[in-house]
Amino acid sequence: MRMTQPRMQRNNAMVCVLIIFLINVNGEISPFDDHGNHFHDQMKKLQALKSSLIRRDLASSPSPSPSFSAPAPSPQAGAVGSPRVFRVTSFGADPSGKLDSTEALEKAIAAAFEGPKEWSLMEGIINLGGAQIYLEGGIYKISQPLRLPAAGAGNLMISGGTLLASDDFPTDGYLIDLSSSSSSSSYNYEYITLKDLMLDCNYRGGGISVINSLRTSIDNCYITHFNTNGILVQQGHETYIRNSFLGQHITAGGDPGERNFSGTAINLMGNDNAVTDVIIFSAATGILVSGQANTLSGVHCYNKATGFGGTGIYLKLPNLTQTRILNCYLDYTGIVAEDPNQLTITNSFFLGDAYIALKSVNGVAKGVTIVDNMFSGSNKGIDIVQLQQSNGPFKEIDQVVVDRNNVQGMNIRATNAKESVEGNGTSWSVDFSPILLFPNLINHVQYSLSANGASFPNYALRNVSENRVVIESDVAVAARVFVTVNQAVTI
Ligand SMILES: *[C@@H]1O[C@H](CO)[C@@H](O)[C@H](O)[C@H]1NC(C)=O
Ligand SMILES: *[C@@H]1O[C@H](CO)[C@@H](O)[C@H](O)[C@H]1NC(C)=O
Ligand SMILES: *[C@@H]1O[C@H](CO)[C@@H](O)[C@H](O)[C@H]1NC(C)=O
Ligand SMILES: *[C@@H]1O[C@H](CO)[C@@H](O)[C@H](O)[C@H]1NC(C)=O
Repeated sequence: MRMTQPRMQRNNAMVCVLIIFLINVNGEISPFDDHGNHFHDQMKKLQALKSSLIRRDLASSPSPSPSFSAPAPSPQAGAVGSPRVFRVTSFGADPSGKLDSTEALEKAIAAAFEGPKEWSLMEGIINLGGAQIYLEGGIYKISQPLRLPAAGAGNLMISGGTLLASDDFPTDGYLIDLSSSSSSSSYNYEYITLKDLMLDCNYRGGGISVINSLRTSIDNCYITHFNTNGILVQQGHETYIRNSFLGQHITAGGDPGERNFSGTAINLMGNDNAVTDVIIFSAATGILVSGQANTLSGVHCYNKATGFGGTGIYLKLPNLTQTRILNCYLDYTGIVAEDPNQLTITNSFFLGDAYIALKSVNGVAKGVTIVDNMFSGSNKGIDIVQLQQSNGPFKEIDQVVVDRNNVQGMNIRATNAKESVEGNGTSWSVDFSPILLFPNLINHVQYSLSANGASFPNYALRNVSENRVVIESDVAVAARVFVTVNQAVTI
């Protein structure tokens, strides 16, 4: 399969009208101010508002601060009573990305751990108060995973720069490794925030691993050049991955090397996590889920086309699924669900013949809702939902609803269908096999016969098998028969 069609998101012409009021920190109006009196009035009002805010700030502050800029780095960062922002260059890290900064970053992290110990989060987890390890917009080369010095700590942030794996970085390591060999609490960490970071794994290992932790936040990160996982989440719960970009190769789609993309962007091996508003632009698998009760929402996968062997979202927890996939964009790459048991896929967009495969492991498909999605393909006869039954057919089928999807250039598949046929005689037959998802499964039929002539025939449902429905009448009549069928409805 070749990617001939440019991905839709780049076809959209967006017209943005931005009205920008620029005021610098001293309250001066920017040079863009020659727009008439109304504009000047607005600016004066804004200035007045702003200076009133400054006055209030001065009035309430014991030591007046002349500007809004962040406090200067304190040489005694970490000492009792000093701010708990740890600027990594103060610990000798090299922001040019040339020298190895592993040791300096470890020192900064260790310093962030030296704080008051009397407050805690979950039992056994010390509250570090929101201590911040600040990368100051630099690029730091590291040759070992960054680990926290001890388990049992939380309320800590690492933000604001780039980490780059060195050429000898361990290939099974993660740039930021929230694991621990020993833990005094039932969880390793709680409320660790990784924010505004670029993680370049240099094709050695992965980006972030979060092991047995609670309430971890990964926000506005760009993770690339991973060989294993961009992000690995194991045990624990509530890792929230938001507004982030992950790709093994830096590409904007249609990459000549797409066939060779490998690795997994996000590997969720735990429960109750959420991935929201995330772009996955290259990897063999976009998101691999093997824990329960995860939510994926606003995820755009164009990681590796199905035609090249890629998968957008792979649900590998047969008969335990409990996954909600909402408002996602599967772009030439689809969804695979092994023995889904409680799975919702809704309000999502499937482009480029992308489809949903239900893969039988032990033949379970229960509580599956695939509704209100859009599918767009290239008239190759690809079904929007497919059954993969090489391990044996689905046999525990219950409460499966595939319905109300809109489809262009692909074959619709559904668990509910309606059809009408016209005939003149005693028998009307409707074959639903081209549309129904499961073979030979109809457990609900509704039908009616509409005839215009003088006779009022008796008619009955005579046969339901192989997804075909036969209605017969006692006398020959010219009539139209309307039939509605449902599969997999047992309540
Ligand atoms: C993909 O990988 C194969 C085998 O490693 C290699 O021969 C080929 O050149 C690669 N293709 C691209 C486009 O990188
Ligand atoms: C699937 O899980 C249900 C419990 O939710 C269990 O009753 C059933 O036996 C399981 N089916 C298979 C095939 O493992
Ligand atoms: C239905 O078939 C009968 C018998 O062949 C014929 O007489 C009648 O005209 C047909 N009615 C219509 C509406 O085609
Ligand atoms: C019902 O239809 C199937 C084919 O769809 C046929 O094999 C079967 O014999 C029919 N059953 C009866 C009772 O007519």
